[in-house]
Amino acid sequence: MCGIVGYVGHQQAGPILLEGLKRLEYRGYDSAGVALLDGAEDLLVLKKTGSPDRVGALMRQHENAAHTGISHTRWATHGEVTDRNAHPHCSSDGKFAIVHNGVIENYQAIRRFLEGQGYSFVSETDSEALANLIAYHFAKEPEQPGKNRFTESVRKSLLHVDGTYGLAVVCIDRPGEIVGARKGSPLCVGIGQGENMIASDVAAFLNYTRRVVYLDDGQVVTLSPQDYSITTVYDESVAPVERQVEWNIEEADLGAFAHYMEKEIFEQPKALENAMRGRFSDDCSTAKFGGLNVEPRELRQIDRVVFLGQGTAYLACMVAEYFVERYARIPVEVEYSSEFRYRNAPLDKNTLVFVISQSGETLDSLEAMREAMRKGYRTLAITNTVGSTIARENDGGIYQHCGPEISVAATKSFTSQLVLCAMVALFLGRMRDLSYAEGRAISQALRHLPGHVTQVLNLAEHIQKLAAKYAHFEDMIFLGRQDMYPIALEGALKLKEITYIHAEGYQAAEMKHGPIALINERCPSIFLVPRGESLPKMLSNVQEVRARKGPVILITNAPESEVANDAAEDIIRLPDGGHEVLDPVLFTVPVQLFAYYVALARGLPVDKPRNLAKSVTVE
Ligand code: M6R
Repeated sequence: MCGIVGYVGHQQAGPILLEGLKRLEYRGYDSAGVALLDGAEDLLVLKKTGSPDRVGALMRQHENAAHTGISHTRWATHGEVTDRNAHPHCSSDGKFAIVHNGVIENYQAIRRFLEGQGYSFVSETDSEALANLIAYHFAKEPEQPGKNRFTESVRKSLLHVDGTYGLAVVCIDRPGEIVGARKGSPLCVGIGQGENMIASDVAAFLNYTRRVVYLDDGQVVTLSPQDYSITTVYDESVAPVERQVEWNIEEADLGAFAHYMEKEIFEQPKALENAMRGRFSDDCSTAKFGGLNVEPRELRQIDRVVFLGQGTAYLACMVAEYFVERYARIPVEVEYSSEFRYRNAPLDKNTLVFVISQSGETLDSLEAMREAMRKGYRTLAITNTVGSTIARENDGGIYQHCGPEISVAATKSFTSQLVLCAMVALFLGRMRDLSYAEGRAISQALRHLPGHVTQVLNLAEHIQKLAAKYAHFEDMIFLGRQDMYPIALEGALKLKEITYIHAEGYQAAEMKHGPIALINERCPSIFLVPRGESLPKMLSNVQEVRARKGPVILITNAPESEVANDAAEDIIRLPDGGHEVLDPVLFTVPVQLFAYYVALARGLPVDKPRNLAKSVTVE
């Protein structure tokens, strides 16, 4: 939510900031802006609603050789989407510009105080209060030997702030410096040669450096071209831990694909392979994970697992419930992180908590994880983003290794979470009653999954034709039973997210208890019908919908002898993976493709759906 990039160094800052903003657009795309500082003139602030390209056009009209600058791409929280509310925001004395990701909860009190001190405001944002507060402290702050007055004014301001922030500030009196700080919103420093950068995500500066320091909450950093130093907001010095980023920038490029969502859907065979690589133990027919940091003896004591997540990650948690209860016979609870955090649920002492989050930065999930850890529960995470806050703060975890996911709609991250949940279930199951033979069957099936996914991807043309046929509808229903129910919810979520079609997912048997009232010829239903014991019941549910003139798309891996070609208006036939553990992934891919092609048919901005942002770092 909101992306920040700052640059200080020997190169021209403007183009580097613009390039960084484009890489962070997935974090918000309501407006964009830059503040450039070359020491010779006033701060140059250019900002505009819409994409960073519009700021690029403004930059071309203003020749500027600044070597220091900050920039921002916005997901609006306080104040409408207008040029005036776009970041950067300046202090009313014109000395400071600030870019901010997060929410200043007490901004109205700060604003009232500063208005009393003669500072004025032009926007409706909470962030402008912070710009003026820094100016206020700077004006009061005496020059002291061994202290940087700029850093001190930011640090002291933050002591008065309630809420969350990832921020970067420039000061007209200190043209070769940027001060940044973080609490609750991610921020990292990219360390270069004669240049340093600050950003919400390493993707912004990977073209310049792979050396990175992730800031922790409550830290303040001061950057100059040659150096950087970190303290806490309480002025304690911090010894930075430098890391090397593993992935490279090409992985975040579109290549031959039209959209990141398309690219990421088609990357799934590779992503699943990467998630599983080196994680099977053949001699024991189980899974193994390097970073769990839990002794088998302790895991054996576990008598409940709680899975927490939001959005698509929450739906992965729902599938995990089926896997863990089925293969490990351990009772599972699934909860939205945002509910768990405040519900104060009484949990048994032998409860294991798993947080699932692609970004590793979703604030609801991060705070739920902290709450579970504070209460002393063993808390593990499944996350894709190395160096993310959830990855750094957990007791142990599993990386998804599915590469950067840029499109707002989660696709490859979801299926790789499903595979890892299946492997966790296998791992816990083999510590209990899951037999060697059953464990072997699951691990063999999972190994063949990437090949089956490739076969499903080969159905893309057929699915695109169906999408074109159904793209004009304004309501759709997705139906499934058992572990297909969360996939029905995911199908509906994908569709509403990127096509703006009103879509609902229901447990198929629940239909006749109310939702069936929605069915008519203007409301198609998409049934997820795996072979197995629920098949006859699902086919009855299909009949109930068709009897009420509801068009039906049926997705199945059952043979024609069990699901005839006239069982529905349209049928998508999937390969039979040969093991039920594969079904959640194999049935996900067609609903992803369907949503993608419907969005294409409607001419919508697939990767940047309205009102959304990839990483949700506000509560
Ligand atoms: O990064 P996370 O996995 O924690 O994100 C959770 C949700 O915000 C995310 O899955 C969201 O629902 C996606 N846009 C769904 O496509």
